[in-house]
Amino acid sequence: MSSAGDGFDVEGVRSRFTVLREGDFAFLDAPGGSLVPDEVADAIAEATRIASANMGGFYPTSQRVTKIQSDARVAGAAFMGGEPENIVLGPNMTTINFALTRAAARDFAEGDEIIVTALDHDGNVAPWRELARDRGLVLKTAGLTDDLRLDLDSVRELVTDRTRVIAFPWASNAVGTVTPAKELCDLAHSVGALAWVDAVHYAAHRAISAREIGADVLLCSPYKFAGPHLGMAHVDPAVASAWRAYKVGPREDYPLGSRFETGTQPYELLAGLLVTFRYLESIGGLSAIHAHEEALAARMLARLPEEVTVYGPALEHRVPTFLIDVPGTPAIDVARRLAERGVGVWHHDSWYAMSLRPWLTAPPETVRVGIGHYNSEADVDRLADELAAMV
Ligand SMILES: Cc1ncc(COP(=O)(O)O)c(C=O)c1O
Repeated sequence: MSSAGDGFDVEGVRSRFTVLREGDFAFLDAPGGSLVPDEVADAIAEATRIASANMGGFYPTSQRVTKIQSDARVAGAAFMGGEPENIVLGPNMTTINFALTRAAARDFAEGDEIIVTALDHDGNVAPWRELARDRGLVLKTAGLTDDLRLDLDSVRELVTDRTRVIAFPWASNAVGTVTPAKELCDLAHSVGALAWVDAVHYAAHRAISAREIGADVLLCSPYKFAGPHLGMAHVDPAVASAWRAYKVGPREDYPLGSRFETGTQPYELLAGLLVTFRYLESIGGLSAIHAHEEALAARMLARLPEEVTVYGPALEHRVPTFLIDVPGTPAIDVARRLAERGVGVWHHDSWYAMSLRPWLTAPPETVRVGIGHYNSEADVDRLADELAAMV
């Protein structure tokens, strides 16, 4: 058991990952893409061997892909707090989001307004930005507080009777800030706008539910939570059934979510996704993950040398993702030197959060430390020790 006292069997978890068994390395870049347990990789390989066919045939390989896809909708809906028929499966969040935004905006008029936030990843902004360019929509960006939380007053001030969408991240992939998702969905609905929620970052750390927050569109990416490279969305049928999808003619309109899926699905990855959900349940689900990661985050913050600057809000307002800066050492050198000493982090200038920069008092590039559920106390201690040696 983890000695963090959180009851999480982190050694048992780690034994299920080849890369964690084979090497002495602290992987602290879960936000860029989580490590994947062997059982998920095995399921992908197995499906490739036995389930490669078109759907709807009367023979075993076809029946297997049909079942994989329908099981993926059922399990995806349980994960996203919604209904199987409203699940949209696709290659990644960004691709699904471009498709859904275009379908949703078919009847938007010139001058209609979309609100996004300075915490958003561009995957939840670019689809609207490009629509705004093409169609004369107005894109507005809500600001932040000094501690890099979403400024709700700034969102409220931007709302007008032309607001058609409030798009926001449930958590920031850059600074880890968690946003009040239900409150934002309620605000959108109070003016008849759509609540468009990017849960890509949040879903790796906390349970999500479209139903509980009232999201019209909720998006996530399984490769952030120990799954294959896929994207997934849940759409509210009350609004999405009115959208005319961009799809090929013979594609059926039911289940609702499938009308926003183009082409043939990667069935072998969906087979891996099914095992991902079973894996997450087997380790206690998102509540166990939340407790374990929070204990690690607190430990890391307590041990970081005081010379290291950490950006973002207090622990209770964030998931365990931290932008840091080692004064006097460029981020690229910090990342390279840490990697040489067995710690994997990332350095970047924008983190794909294109409107965040003006709110940061950091140098042009920063280092991101992203704790994942398979990280151990030894991982965060190693990071803290190496940073201490560096400063
Ligand atoms: C918060 C957030 N939203 C959206 C995306 C884009 O996701 P995808 O790679 O599935 O398109 C990412 C990717 O890192 C992200 O972190």
